[in-house]
This record gives sequence, structure tokens and C-alpha cells, in this order.
Amino acid sequence: MDSLYTEFVEQSRKIADLQYAAAVLEWDKETYMPAKSAEIRSQQIATLSETAHTWLIDPAYENVMQQLLEQKDLSENELDNVKIRLKEVLRLKKKTPAFVRKMSETVSKAYHKWIEARRKNDFSIYAPALEELINLKKEEAEIYGYEEHPYDALLQEYEESASVEMLDKVFADLLPGLSEILEKYKNKNIDTHFLHKKYDAAKQLEWGKYLAEQMGLDKDKTRLDISEHPFTTNFSATDVRITTRIDENDFSNNTWSTIHEGGHALYELGLPIEEYGLPLGTFTSLSIHESQSRFWENCVGKNGAFWYHYLPEAQRFFPEQLSEIKLEVFMQAVNRIEPSLIRTEADEVTYHFHIYIRYLIEKELIAGTISTKDISKIWNEKYKELLGIDVPDDKSGCLQDIHWSIGSLGYFPTYSLGSLYAAQFWDKLKSDNPNIESEISNGNLNTTLQWLRQNIHQYGKKYDSEQLCKKVTDSTLDSTIFLKYLEDKFSK
Ligand code: CO
Repeated sequence: MDSLYTEFVEQSRKIADLQYAAAVLEWDKETYMPAKSAEIRSQQIATLSETAHTWLIDPAYENVMQQLLEQKDLSENELDNVKIRLKEVLRLKKKTPAFVRKMSETVSKAYHKWIEARRKNDFSIYAPALEELINLKKEEAEIYGYEEHPYDALLQEYEESASVEMLDKVFADLLPGLSEILEKYKNKNIDTHFLHKKYDAAKQLEWGKYLAEQMGLDKDKTRLDISEHPFTTNFSATDVRITTRIDENDFSNNTWSTIHEGGHALYELGLPIEEYGLPLGTFTSLSIHESQSRFWENCVGKNGAFWYHYLPEAQRFFPEQLSEIKLEVFMQAVNRIEPSLIRTEADEVTYHFHIYIRYLIEKELIAGTISTKDISKIWNEKYKELLGIDVPDDKSGCLQDIHWSIGSLGYFPTYSLGSLYAAQFWDKLKSDNPNIESEISNGNLNTTLQWLRQNIHQYGKKYDSEQLCKKVTDSTLDSTIFLKYLEDKFSK
């Protein structure tokens, strides 16, 4: 290996070591850390993260990359690693340390105000701090630069191939079809009471671990623990942690959270370990990450073929609660569509209205065409207009998500894009393997996992979302495939 490239790899891995060490501390904070060490823990995480950042923007590191680009003897993958990392560094460098500090202080203030506003169920408590944060995000958009719309600069923090132009088109294609499906299949009389019987917490955790293992999560490379909000984190492709939330009066929450996070984990476990700390060893984008979780949660995990095999297993775990339940009744309950207030509890159809409303508000906030103090009013009007429901208070309205309070503007659309990519991948998997559903109905999930490994996981960041989608499916992002997937599912 070329010595200069070796230097690049070593420096990149040291940076990754610090970032993953911070991630271990973060995981511990969300799972096992005693409550009173919150403050000192935040300081420990900040020290590691800041040091990693300093090393990342070190001129010597950039210099090594610039020199490597002038060399002609790098392999294709080596060149990709250098190019992608250099691009990331140049973007990071645009923000001055003073700006980074200001952002972190403003976020911290907004986050605390959000907590208080939620507790008191009053958006106006949070509005001034949020406005300050939005103004800073507008400044950030100017710092990064953009061609068409300032919101594009923020979107691209999470999703390189996203833009207002692209998303406007995606939602314009998607929403009328979703409204039709919603009208046609929404049913309030479906029996779901058996999902809300008492399900013992310890038994539920055992069930979650069983499901994760069935999906192909290697016990020697993963853990499943409990946290307030389910999440996935990874420290390398040999150590990926998922968490779940357990509600004793609910079968669904833990089951589909575990499958969802399991899908995220399988992506991380499938990244090439020999590219550790380098772009090709890292997930490509948030929407592709989310496509993996939703692929397992919805395309596989809310499919009748899956439950043909796994409902009897669930009945073995929970005989009292489920043994009388027929597959058809179970599937109807699982796939019930109904407009609701809370995004994270929404079904596969109405979910995208929740995202669209957030997208509209973010886009206009950044463009300056609406003002922060009007968010609550606009939110409630849009829920009435698009989902036909009345929002009773801010807590179940515009205060429900953490994202804005931590400055994550541009993040929400990746959830919808993830669903669309998932449906396209599922469609392609089925055409590549016409017997896949019958395999799944025998409890064999391995062909599915190997297909994802082969087509998506192994590439890391080599291709961006759009390139990857094209490579895998021979088509760009296409919301009609998602609509067709829903129509197929709900017409059954
Ligand atoms: Co997710």
C-alpha cells in the first residue's frame, strides 16, 4: 500500500476511534448510566467529539488528501475514500469555531425550552428560543451555500441528492395517491384489542431478542437493551447496539421497534470492516439507512408471509394473549390505517402526511415566508386540511418531535424517502427472487438479508442514494412503486 495513503487511513481511523468512543459513552448514557452523572458525561462526550472535529479539519490531514488526489496510482476505492472524505472536510471547514459554539449554545437553550414547553403544553414558551435557532440555521444555509433554495443547503447535510425541487415533486406525486388509498381502506372497526392486553416486560424483551436473532443479527456482534426512545448505534461493523421500548400494555411497540432498529443494525453489520473509519465503511445517507429499517419493519415485518411463520412463534411466547388470534385478524390489526396525531405511531399511509406538514413548515421557515410564532396555528390547520383531525393541544401537535429543538432541520424528509426506497428495493428483491415470500413464510429470512448485503450494504458510501437506487433497481426514485406496494398490501 502506498505510504501516503496509509497515513491517510491511519489518521482517518484515529478520528473514527474518537467518534466511536464518544458513541459508546452516548449509548451508555441512554441505557445504563446512573442519573446523577449526566452533566460530567456530557462533558466527556463533548471533549471527545471536539477533539475528533479538530483532527478532522487539521490542515495536515487535508494536505495529505490533496497530495493523494494528485497521485495517479490509487485504486478506485482508495480514490473514492479520499474524494468523499475531502468533500466532507471542506464542508465542515466552512463553519468557524465561533459559529459552531454559537450553534451548540443556541441548541442547548432551545432544547431546554422545548422540554419546558412540552411539560406545560404551551408552544409559546419555546417559540422565541426556536426563532433564534431558526435564524442561526438560515445563517448556516448561507455559510454552506446553495443554488436554488436556502433549505437545500440544510437538506444536503443529511441527504446529498435531496432538494426542494426534488421533494416538491416527490410529494406532489405521492400525496394524491395516498389520499385515495386512505379513503378506500381506512377502517375504524378493526379489532386491535388483543394487541393491548398485558404483555409481560421480561417476556417481551426475550421476544425482541428472538426476533433480532431470526433477522440475522449476530449475537456476538450485537446487543438489545432498553431505552426511552428506541435507537441504533454502532462502534464498528463488529459492534452494533439496538434498543427498544417496552410497554406492558402493548405488543406492537416493542415488536416493530425491534424489527425497525434491527434493520438499521443489519446495514451497519453489513458494512465492510476492512474500510473501518473510511467513507466506504460508512452508511451512505440517512434515507438509505431508513430504507433498511423500514424494509424490515414494513415490507417484511408487516407482511402476511412473515407472520404466517412468526404468529405461531408469537403465540408460543404469549399463549394467553394471542393463541386465539387468527392470522387474518392479526394482519388486519397490524395494517390498520387511520389518521392520528402522533407521527411515530402513524401507519404506513398517513405517516407521509405527518412528514409533508413538517417539510412545508421547515421550508417556509427557512425561506422566511412564515414566522416561528405561527407554527402552532399552521400545524393545526394543516392537520385538519390533510388528515381531517383536530389537534387538541401543542403537546400532541407541534411540540411532539425533538428534531427542531436540536437544530435538525432537513431531517424529516429522509423518513419519507426511506419508505420509498424501501418499497423499490422490496419490489426488486421480489422480481429477482419470485419465491421470496414463500421462503419468508417458512421463516427463512436469509435470502432477503444476503440480497441486501450484496446490493446495498457492501458499498458503504461509494454511491449516494440516487446512484445506489439506480444501480440496484435500474430506476431513479419512483413514488408510484411505493403506491403500488401499498395498494397491493391493503387490497388483500
Ligand atoms: Co429509523
